[in-house]
This record gives sequence, C-alpha cells and structure tokens, in this order.
Amino acid sequence: MWPLCVAASSGLVLPAASGSAPASIAASPLRVAAHPLLQAPPAVYSPSKDLAGRGAKYYDGRPPELSQSIAQALKEVGKRKICVITGASSGLGLHAVTALTSSYEGYYVIAAVRDTAKMDEAAAEMGIDAKDYKAVKLECASLASVRDFSKELKRLLRGRGLDRLVCNAAVYLPTDPKPRFTDEGYEMSFGVNHLSHFLLLQLLMPDLKKAKDARVCIVGSVTGNKNTVAGSLVKPVADVGDLEGVKAGAGSVMVDGSRSFDGAKAYKDAKARPREGGGGGGRGKAGKPERPLFTNRPGIVFNSMYPGCIAQTQLFREKRDWRGAAYPHLWRREQAIGSYVSQKEAGERLAQTIADPQAAKSGVYWSWNGDAKSIGVGNAGGAGGDLFENSFSGMVQDEANGQLCWDYSMELVKPYLK
Ligand SMILES: NC(=O)c1ccc[n+]([C@@H]2O[C@H](COP(=O)([O-])OP(=O)(O)OC[C@H]3O[C@@H](n4cnc5c(N)ncnc54)[C@H](OP(=O)(O)O)[C@@H]3O)[C@@H](O)[C@H]2O)c1
Repeated sequence: MWPLCVAASSGLVLPAASGSAPASIAASPLRVAAHPLLQAPPAVYSPSKDLAGRGAKYYDGRPPELSQSIAQALKEVGKRKICVITGASSGLGLHAVTALTSSYEGYYVIAAVRDTAKMDEAAAEMGIDAKDYKAVKLECASLASVRDFSKELKRLLRGRGLDRLVCNAAVYLPTDPKPRFTDEGYEMSFGVNHLSHFLLLQLLMPDLKKAKDARVCIVGSVTGNKNTVAGSLVKPVADVGDLEGVKAGAGSVMVDGSRSFDGAKAYKDAKARPREGGGGGGRGKAGKPERPLFTNRPGIVFNSMYPGCIAQTQLFREKRDWRGAAYPHLWRREQAIGSYVSQKEAGERLAQTIADPQAAKSGVYWSWNGDAKSIGVGNAGGAGGDLFENSFSGMVQDEANGQLCWDYSMELVKPYLK
C-alpha cells in the first residue's frame, strides 16, 4: 500500500514526495503507461499554461460579441431566474449547469467562461439545451474583463434583478516552480480564485439586491478549512497570516506575505476566506463600505459549499497525469476516508445549493457526508448523504482577519469599481 495519501479537495498530495510519483511508479514509466488505473486523462486546453512566462495578456480588451451575447441571453430568459456561473465550461461548473437546467424548473444560466467555444462544445456533449444557457466571455485572470462583463450585464439587465451568482472558476497550480501572474500582476490562484470574484460581487451586488430572493454561492474547499482532514493533515496547510501579501498587492507571491512561492498553498490560501469571497456596496455607520458577506442582508442569501473530492475534473490538469486518472480508484478503495465524489454528483450538489429551498439560508457552509469517515479533525465529504450545515474552522471565522481580507481586497479592486 502507498503511504498515507489524503484527499485535499484540490488534489492528491503525497507527503513523502509532493510533486513526484511514489518510487515504485516513478522508476518505471512504461509500467505506469500500461497500468489500467493510470491511463492519462485526455489532454486539455489550458490557456493559463499557454501564456505562462510569455508576457502576453490574458484579456485583450472587450470582445465585440460581449454585448450581443448577453443581450441574446436576456431575450431568451423569459420568466426564468438568471443564474451566472463562473468557470462553467468544465468539471463542477459544467455539471452544475446540467443539473440545474435538467432537474430544476425555471433557471437560465449565463455561463461566464474564458472560452465560449469550449463551453458550447462541452454543453452539447452534456446534452444541455441551447435554450437554457448562453456562454459569455469572462476572463478571471483580468480585472478589466470582470469589469467589462459586469458592466455589460448590468446595462442590459435594465432594472431586472440578478437571481443567482455562483463563484466557481478556479485554478490549482501545485507543480509550478514559479508563480504566474494575472494581467494586473496578482498571483494567479489569488487573482482567479479570490480577487476576480470579489470584484464581480462588488459590481453585481446592486443587481442581486433587485432580485426577489437572490442567492450567492462561493464554491469552497476543505483545504482552506483547518477543521477538516484535508485542511489540517495535508501539507502545506492554508495559513493566510495577517494577509500581508494582499496588503502589499500586485507582485506578491503568497497571501501571507512570504516571498517563497508554494503553488499548493497559494490555492489553499485563496480558498481560505470564502466569507470574504465578495462583498458589496452597503454603507456602515461611518460611511465606510460594510463587509456584508455572511451577514444579515435581507433578500440575499450568501453561502458556500464543499462539493466533495471530484478527482476527475480538470482542476488537476497541472498535476502529473497519472494522479488524475488513478485518483478516484485509489479513493474508492481508501476505506479510511472515502471522500471521492463523481462530477455528476458534485454538480447536483452545487445545483442544490443554488435552487433547493432547503439551502435558502444565509451564512452556511453546505456539505454532504455520505460514505466519508471522520478522522479526528472532521469529515471528508464523501459520496451520498444529505445536505448539512458544516462548521467553519477558526481561521475562516476569525473576524479581524476577515475584515482585513475585505479591506485589502477592496483597495485592490477600487480602480475597477467605476
Ligand atoms: N475538484 C475537486 O476535487 C474540488 C474540490 C473542492 C472544491 N473544488 C472547487 O470546485 C470549483 C471548480 O473546480 P473543478 O474541480 O470543476 O475544476 P475545473 O474543471 O478545472 O473547473 C475550473 C473552471 O474554472 C475555469 N477557469 C480557470 N481559470 C479561469 C480564468 N482565468 N478565467 C475564467 N475561468 C477560469 C476553467 O475554465 P476552462 O474550462 O476554460 O479551463 C474551468 O471551467 C473550484 O472553485 C474548485 O476550487 C474542486
């Protein structure tokens, strides 16, 4: 048996040699290729990889079709609720679109994606009806793109509210030896997973307020929660410190201000503050913007969810190929933890948090715990089981830290709020 391999929601981490195969496998590449459990997943398009280190921009300005595609979406929506899902072109997001449009009545999805052609292709493969969604360009590695997308959506909504917003897009770059940066110079995991969504929420909050029973869901991760198996046992553990890196802004490589880059930790840190995934527009007593997420804001339900460990998504595209392919098999056999969840089931879970009346409660970190076992520090969120209200770890609940995260993030997105 291999050494303890624990399900980080963000991937498989082998404590003995993170980033490398166990010795028996690494020594024999031919045996790896032949092993049925270790078939490499199909090559996937990875724009972030394409641009890495070339100094090119991820977003080269407002695409001419942006306005037209949103206008067309709004023409098609009719009386249905509008649900924006970021990163809907693969994995959890794609399966959530499928579940939402097939199992629930009255939803229309604006799939906010960096590659609209990829979205259309994936939707066709999944059998998603073209009348139920529209792919619209959103590049999360660019705050300018977030601003353009939001501005256009607001303009075309013309007073109609936005019913649902799902912050799902993310990257996981554990094997990068050096950091990549977004167009505005933020470390990629922080920029895509947190900052772009923070800005998106700031900009769209007035539109969410206009809807009758709006909901916002920030897709979370156990890796950012120290009270879980993956969040506490799998190194590196998330630790945002005093958010010195966020305070310092562009060019920082780690949220805690450290100068030494660690891609796995960067992902976990970026997922560590779902409560500050966004905020929006309210004014406190002193005239300063409030940190409104997870507070009682009548009319908007804010929540977060952990979908389970979905080993087959493209989140693991930057991992060594054998890991993605072997992962579910390993995990199904892993009696101690058993946290594997299929993409279909994970998509159904996300759709449930968006649409199920049971999930219409603010401030909750929704989880499911079917097969998964508890190991001292908490559960691991396996397949099956009912929706339940999970608890956040102390780090996630730390109010002072949350306020810092909100204040510093606000400073960074300020130029894009107008
Ligand atoms: N997989 C797991 O075990 C797991 C566990 C817990 C939480 N999660 C969370 O689930 C969410 C979805 O992840 P996943 O597992 O479904 O992985 P995934 O298949 O890689 O999905 C991530 C999505 O984000 C999009 N994305 C990445 N960079 C982007 C950018 N710069 N601009 C716009 N979109 C971008 C990707 O677009 P492309 O299609 O163009 O690549 C993709 O559609 C993430 O928030 C992740 O943290 C996953």
